[in-house]
Amino acid sequence: MAMSSADNDLLTRVENGAAMGEMIRQHYWLPAIPAALLEADGRPYRVRLLGTDLVAWRASDGAVGILDERCPHRGASLALARNQDNGLRCLYHGWKRNVRGDVVEAPNHGGDQATFCAHLRLNRYHAVERGGIVWAWLGRGDNPPRFPELPFVDLPAERRSVTSVEVPTNWVQAVEASMDSSHVGVLHESTSQIAAGGGGGNQRLLMNQALAPKLEFEDRPYGYRYAALRAIGDGQVYARVNHFVMPWYGLICAPTADGPSTAFFSTPVDDSRHRAWFVHFNPGRPLGMTVMSASPDLWNFPPLPPGRAEDNWGQNRDLMRRGHATGFPQHLGTEDFAMFISQGVIADRSTEQLCSADGAVLRVRQALLRSVREFVAGNVPTLADNPALDYRNIRPVGALLAPGEDWRNLGGGTPA
Ligand code: FES
Ligand SMILES: [Fe+2]
Repeated sequence: MAMSSADNDLLTRVENGAAMGEMIRQHYWLPAIPAALLEADGRPYRVRLLGTDLVAWRASDGAVGILDERCPHRGASLALARNQDNGLRCLYHGWKRNVRGDVVEAPNHGGDQATFCAHLRLNRYHAVERGGIVWAWLGRGDNPPRFPELPFVDLPAERRSVTSVEVPTNWVQAVEASMDSSHVGVLHESTSQIAAGGGGGNQRLLMNQALAPKLEFEDRPYGYRYAALRAIGDGQVYARVNHFVMPWYGLICAPTADGPSTAFFSTPVDDSRHRAWFVHFNPGRPLGMTVMSASPDLWNFPPLPPGRAEDNWGQNRDLMRRGHATGFPQHLGTEDFAMFISQGVIADRSTEQLCSADGAVLRVRQALLRSVREFVAGNVPTLADNPALDYRNIRPVGALLAPGEDWRNLGGGTPA
């Protein structure tokens, strides 16, 4: 059944006090910026999350901070501030803030500095650095939610890579794509072939053979996991067991036996933009050089489609005539971004006509809508905090099943 416009708004909108934005703000840590971008005493970065303009920075002692972008004095941007002596000093009149958000100096005030600074009204945000990312908690009060200790956050740096890029669409259509197994064999047909280098060892190629996977689900305290099952002949079934972790994480199994898994997540910049994050991680060994780990730009990769709507977003039809599936050879992510952008800034879910492959997408929506309704009713969303919540042992897994074998028995171990 198609979604009502009212539910589509409830699902997608995060700005200006929208319930979804408030729920996320209160109950989740937000990935804000790749940690490697921030240097001690280096430039602050402008970061926009849930429609709030912020700056992220690293103080002289290495601690990270997240502050409102506007100076609490008269609103100059702290992205322009001097970063020195463990503080961010506004360029305009010299007010200085520390990583906890205190104003520690207001040199143009003639009275008692300490008393004046102590009585300012300030937003204070929590910031932590984990897994190559600086995370922010923008909620009210002083009790941040449990940190999502996803399987990559405590790995050594050489076993993970982090890249991200801002995409000009609402975040939910990107979250849906991470739980949309049936698009992979179509949209990514050529990128899968290219990644496999023409060889047969890459299981992802099996998705090009069977375009209508059977989906089976299991609820989890953080969301759900599901198996996309593809019959590939000789009684064999290729099972991909991926996880949806509220509010936006897709944990995707490795394409090869000992390859890296992917955590794909799409965080709302505001209603009409999101930041797409790609984390590759391999608990078992260093990543070595991959397209992701070799990326020179943690803040702008993978590339967006190279054109605008008037020229079909830069699609290369000549390449398609030569056999490429999409005409977006830049990156697998570029193909996804082209789809999100072509769906519209906020996809209209009231006119969709869904099919049997869309069950996992529907469950993403259900989990988000259930959570926001619980929040609006004054409750802590069930999936945001419950005693069984354990992020550490989430393991996406892909494997060929023998005849009669149950995907649930693949366990949560390393990818088979
Ligand atoms: S506007 Fe920042 S110190 Fe005046
Ligand atoms: Fe995709």
